[in-house]
Amino acid sequence: MKKTYVITGATSGIGNAVLKKLAKDNIIFAGYRNEKYVDELEKIGAIPFYIDMEKKDSISKACAFIKSKTEKIDTLVNVAGCVVAGVMENLSVDKIRKQFEVNTFSHIDFTQRLLPLLNNGKVINISSMASFGIFPFVAPYCASKRALDILFNAMAVESGLKVVSVKPGVIATPLWEKSVELNKDEITNCTGYDKEMKYLVSNARKNGKEGLNVEKVADIIVKIDGLDNPKPSYTIGFDAKAAEFMSKLPQSLINVLIKQGIKSKISSVK
Ligand SMILES: NC(=O)c1ccc[n+]([C@@H]2O[C@H](COP(=O)([O-])OP(=O)(O)OC[C@H]3O[C@@H](n4cnc5c(N)ncnc54)[C@H](OP(=O)(O)O)[C@@H]3O)[C@@H](O)[C@H]2O)c1
Repeated sequence: MKKTYVITGATSGIGNAVLKKLAKDNIIFAGYRNEKYVDELEKIGAIPFYIDMEKKDSISKACAFIKSKTEKIDTLVNVAGCVVAGVMENLSVDKIRKQFEVNTFSHIDFTQRLLPLLNNGKVINISSMASFGIFPFVAPYCASKRALDILFNAMAVESGLKVVSVKPGVIATPLWEKSVELNKDEITNCTGYDKEMKYLVSNARKNGKEGLNVEKVADIIVKIDGLDNPKPSYTIGFDAKAAEFMSKLPQSLINVLIKQGIKSKISSVK
């Protein structure tokens, strides 16, 4: 039987890969923020809807559109996201706020508005290993994913809604190159942290090429969707599992290990 899905961030990377795997046999509402993707989404067989996670008005309009077309949603996949990076001592609060708008608050708002359609459905959030909270220079990203997980987990406990947090490690998607562009001011105006920022950029570019295959991650997400009683959280990839393990160590030990790790990584940066 056809299921009804809503996917944000459906135009690229993980969201697009999941969409392509599900589109043939299901009804899919696919979120885009750039008109150039509309034709492509329609060709895949999806129903495109405009949503910009930074614009409250567009979130409410997207929900009104979806409600005008369907009475139920089987699975809502909250995928849209970006990475805000930089050094905490000079990252602007506005930039940190943007990170939380895109990765956290918008997903709460969108999900709350769609709850009446999600009766027996489930919500799959694409969180990240960043939610384990151990990585410096991408602290806003880590915090936004941790907050996403805490807020949705409470919603699940309070209401009985099925919520799954998927926490992948590094996946080869355009996210990484976009993060270099999004954070270029913070990266270039970082006196005293030149080597760290150079490493951040080269590592992002490496991740965009050498990360886990996005198809494999999409397969796991589709498998999780098929489970009647999924676990509240899935950690995907060796790096993510290592981050999970490390996050359980005492904070003082985590900090020593992270500082040592950074020191050895930047020692080779010219
Ligand atoms: N790649 C990784 O290593 C990795 C690892 C763990 C978790 N994740 C998470 O997985 C999710 C998907 O990331 P990805 O790697 O697939 O990256 P991606 O290829 O850049 O896809 C991100 C998607 O989100 C959309 N988006 C970004 N900002 C938006 C906004 N303000 N309003 C509406 N849509 C917006 C993008 O739209 P455009 O196409 O218009 O840019 C795109 O469709 C993110 O939440 C990310 O944090 C990624």
